[in-house]
Amino acid sequence: MSKQPVVAVLGLGAMGHAFAANLLKKGFPVQGWNRTRARGEDLQDAGLTLTDSVAQAVKDADVVIAMLTDGETTSQVLREAEPALKQGATLCQMGTIGVEATDALIAQLAETRPDVVFIDAPVSGTKTPAENAQILVLASGDRSRAAAAEQVFAAISKGQQWLGEAGASTRMKLVVNSFLIGITQSLAESEKLAGALGFSADELWQALDGGPLGIPYARMKLNMIASGDFTAQMQLSLALKDAHLALDAAEGARLPALENITTIWQQAVDAGYGEQDLASVSRYLKD
Ligand SMILES: NC(=O)c1ccc[n+]([C@@H]2O[C@H](COP(=O)([O-])OP(=O)(O)OC[C@H]3O[C@@H](n4cnc5c(N)ncnc54)[C@H](OP(=O)(O)O)[C@@H]3O)[C@@H](O)[C@H]2O)c1
Repeated sequence: MSKQPVVAVLGLGAMGHAFAANLLKKGFPVQGWNRTRARGEDLQDAGLTLTDSVAQAVKDADVVIAMLTDGETTSQVLREAEPALKQGATLCQMGTIGVEATDALIAQLAETRPDVVFIDAPVSGTKTPAENAQILVLASGDRSRAAAAEQVFAAISKGQQWLGEAGASTRMKLVVNSFLIGITQSLAESEKLAGALGFSADELWQALDGGPLGIPYARMKLNMIASGDFTAQMQLSLALKDAHLALDAAEGARLPALENITTIWQQAVDAGYGEQDLASVSRYLKD
């Protein structure tokens, strides 16, 4: 497909807003809907058609992106979208909604809208990488019918990893996030230990830098910890959701560290850290 597809973005939060902005920059016609309309208004000057209803946003769209908080919200919004979807449209579910909600969505669409191409497409990468089109799209579904989706993914990401049947990438996304959650907790505890032993976050970074442990993620999060600015790249409450989704999907595999982290992170959320970046567990551990 050479002509740019019309894209609808449902959910203009941190990630959906970045997707819409990049698509507009690259000349795609974009129709956006957000529960809180004001969150999309700044994109209107760049060409976004901001709609008041989900149905209006999707009705002429070749590709529909859903980028919403969780499974319940996604299924609720997509129920509104479903009857209005254009014949043969492609629906890309890009939020982290877990296995149960994804499988339910696949079954539902197969029954009610078999003409629709469903691509399960969660992403790896947080807000700034999304704004810079540097995320990785984990895609699964019928790739032979996904040319339009691939054009869209190319505009918002640095690459795509295709993983097979729809549902596979949601599973891989939970694996990736369990790794991310583990590293974040480990970094927070190591930085706390460094402090107890008289070292700064920067000295800890210098000890990691240059070797295999000097990963960019550690640099970014240690910067946050050192500055005390925990403006969310990825909210702690969403990361906690993902930890639960991973445990729910684990098929009996015991994940003791992840289980413990959910307990600690729930306490941090209860203490008011939920909307801050997940690196704010570092501050919670010091409280
Ligand atoms: N941030 C990250 O680093 C990151 C990375 C990869 C994947 N993800 C995943 O991507 C998804 C979106 O994350 P985000 O960071 O963009 O979150 P966000 O900034 O909190 O945005 C959430 C979006 O969901 C909408 N929403 C929430 N509850 C709703 C409801 N009941 N009805 C309708 N809309 C509702 C919000 O609308 P309002 O504006 O009206 O609240 C907003 O558009 C999540 O599944 C997250 O886990 C996030």
